[in-house]
Amino acid sequence: MNKRPAFVPPLTIPIEQLAVGMFVLAIDLSWEDHPLLATSRGLVCTPADVSRLAQAGVRRVVIDPSRGAGPRPSTLSGSQASGPAAGLSGGSLADEPQAVQAGEAAAPLDHEIEVAAVIYAESLSFSRDLFASAKAGRLADTDQAKALVSRMIPSVLRNPFALSILTKLRGHDAYTYRHSVNLAALAVVFGHFLGLTRSQLEILGMAGLYHDIGKARVPERILNKPGKLTPEEFELMRGHCQAGYEIVSRAPGIRPEVAECVRDHHERKNGSGYPAGKRGFELSLYSRIVGLIDVYDALTSERCYRRGFPPYQAMRTLYAARDADFFTADVERFIKCLGIYPVTSLVRLSDGRVGVVCEGNRERPLKPKVKLVLSADLSPLEQMIIDLAAAEDDAAPGLDIVDCLDPKELSMNIEHLLQ
Ligand SMILES: [Fe+2]
Repeated sequence: MNKRPAFVPPLTIPIEQLAVGMFVLAIDLSWEDHPLLATSRGLVCTPADVSRLAQAGVRRVVIDPSRGAGPRPSTLSGSQASGPAAGLSGGSLADEPQAVQAGEAAAPLDHEIEVAAVIYAESLSFSRDLFASAKAGRLADTDQAKALVSRMIPSVLRNPFALSILTKLRGHDAYTYRHSVNLAALAVVFGHFLGLTRSQLEILGMAGLYHDIGKARVPERILNKPGKLTPEEFELMRGHCQAGYEIVSRAPGIRPEVAECVRDHHERKNGSGYPAGKRGFELSLYSRIVGLIDVYDALTSERCYRRGFPPYQAMRTLYAARDADFFTADVERFIKCLGIYPVTSLVRLSDGRVGVVCEGNRERPLKPKVKLVLSADLSPLEQMIIDLAAAEDDAAPGLDIVDCLDPKELSMNIEHLLQ
């Protein structure tokens, strides 16, 4: 039985209690009189967001705990500078998903994937050029990056599963190029799920594209080394965060939040990351999102020296790292965003048939659309897509997912199955 969360009404709190992760609905100043604050409605991503409101004279804000963190009793007397323990807290897998942002009509997957494939291919081409120019010591082309991100956003608004699927199809491009595009796409997907504004999604997309640009300064032999790195090699590898920060900081037109993300994407909640060993709310929400998806995409990607994890195994790994490497609520919301069974998951249904999850269902995460590929006795099936949420679907009456499978164990190529 589905347990629906209790409705949490908007709350008015003093500005001193506003913290990273809270969702601001309104402030006690007129938006008309303070147009520069108009973009402040939304998720509070960094302590600088709070400072900006306070410096503008805001004394009280209305927050929406159903879209972000709620006030915590322990923070009521604490100052912002002391790091109140507020993030994307209070979420659970049972929460309702965020409402779809207005402005883009929903599109069917088979249509949107054609649009998204063009954006993805152009982004890959840009990513190759980006690293090549960085290796040659040139500044990155920020206008082209912004144009690509600005095309990813409406695609995600129309159908977030189109770009999500593309990130999991194996290609022939080098891992670093694909990984940067994947991170940009998934960060926009997750940011949209969190209800971020368009300008916040642009920061996430740009941070995804540029996050590993510092690797252009790391020797190829270290980047592609299949075995364990020596302490000296690891030190050189760790240097890509600061190197990337220096490259991006000098690039024209890149917002400081993006550069900060590039520097901090290997920092971890418990202080075990690098380069500075930051912890907790020293990290911006952008850095937390990029750091989390960085690991997810790395785990699920095929490398020359190891096979990628199936999505459910990667989710399990992230979940095991909750409250240590990552904020628990961030992990939970990411799982909720991509689905209990993310697209490209190979699953067994309650009638024994096997299929690939090709489109999630945010309202009913246990009931995605599945492309059937094998019968119960594991013989090939004529491929067809069934919607597990459609009770009236004659091909899927009352079917459930009962198991996740590892494609490697069945010698299956998910990419071929989804084409
Ligand atoms: Fe990195």
